[in-house]
Amino acid sequence: MNFMQFPIDKHSFEGQKVLIRVDFNVPLNKERQVTDNTRIRAALPTIQKVLKDGGTPVLMSHLGRPKGTDESLSMGHIVKEIEKLLETKVHVTKDCIGAEAIDITNSIPSGEVGLLENLRFHDEEKKGDEFFAGQLAEHGDAYINDAFGTAHRAHASTAVIAKFFPHSKYLGYVMENEILNVDKVLNGGQTPVTAIVGGAKVILEQLVSKVDHVLIGGGMAYTFIKAQGGSIGKSLVEDDHLEDALAILKSAEEKGVKIHLPIDTIVADDFSNDANTSIRKINEISDEWMGLDIGPESIAKYSSVLDQSKTILWNGPMGVFEMEKFAEGTKSIAYKLAEITKTGAFTLIGGGDSVAAINKYGLADQVSYVSTGGGAMLEYLEGKVLPGIAAVKG
Ligand code: 3PG
Ligand code: MG
Repeated sequence: MNFMQFPIDKHSFEGQKVLIRVDFNVPLNKERQVTDNTRIRAALPTIQKVLKDGGTPVLMSHLGRPKGTDESLSMGHIVKEIEKLLETKVHVTKDCIGAEAIDITNSIPSGEVGLLENLRFHDEEKKGDEFFAGQLAEHGDAYINDAFGTAHRAHASTAVIAKFFPHSKYLGYVMENEILNVDKVLNGGQTPVTAIVGGAKVILEQLVSKVDHVLIGGGMAYTFIKAQGGSIGKSLVEDDHLEDALAILKSAEEKGVKIHLPIDTIVADDFSNDANTSIRKINEISDEWMGLDIGPESIAKYSSVLDQSKTILWNGPMGVFEMEKFAEGTKSIAYKLAEITKTGAFTLIGGGDSVAAINKYGLADQVSYVSTGGGAMLEYLEGKVLPGIAAVKG
């Protein structure tokens, strides 16, 4: 993608109110404190650029999936965290639209920042309602979409709103970084390029044509094993993707792409950390058992492929790493990626679960790039057009 069409770098926002769609959908604990501020930190450069130009950023985001107004998902809970990171005052509106909100965003002192209340308190946000998008647009002279994590949603604030800024719509630095980093892997990374994919969903079609090796783990592995006639017991499987799995294997072979499937698996008699477990060949799982992680032989094989790789994309865990008994595969991959990053490999971690894993093991700053996108990154890797990006480009 050519970002030179929308360079916020080349534009000065001096004297402008700049409405910035960020993805501040961050996790909160029971006390409603932010437990992971990665997405807020990622958005700082765009916000600071507007401030530095002498513009006034007005931030807007959703938080969670509220049904109507829900105090527990108010932006008020995350204001302190934003103020701390930005080192300036943040003025929150009681509602994201309406005269009172406009009054607040019109009177923000220079150097300070506005924040609209949770966009999803209005159903119109998810419906992509045009009138609502127009009401939001009243908060800005210019619009920047920097919410990569929400770019796969065609919502009012992420896509529909762009039409109200025909000559003043931009993509921010988060968007730019995400796309540039993924493109670095998919188009022109130093070879060999390896994709590690896990998770439940078969997302390989477009990846297969872009990389040299694919390491498959997670729920997806059992779909491939079953497609090849293996016994997978009660393991997770996408029965409607068995044909796809075979087609992917065939197309990979034709292209000279090496797809690696696990050799062994940790089986359990229950989906629980208290389950009985043992190690089995992945295609010999008996009826009452389910595979919940890759086994030691698979870890060794995958590690040796990674040792020889120069560019790596990781999307999706190897097992149910939230449970200690099934975390070893995911943990080993995470540590291996940190290790090879030190020796010069480019490692990109994308997708909610693998990002959660890299954070869980405290390795986020030891890999090359950690994506802020979960579903958005998956859809991008699947080759889909993301509405939030298309709306600004179009
Ligand atoms: C996310 O965290 O996945 C994004 O913020 C989008 O949220 P959503 O999945 O509720 O649309
Ligand atoms: Mg999501």
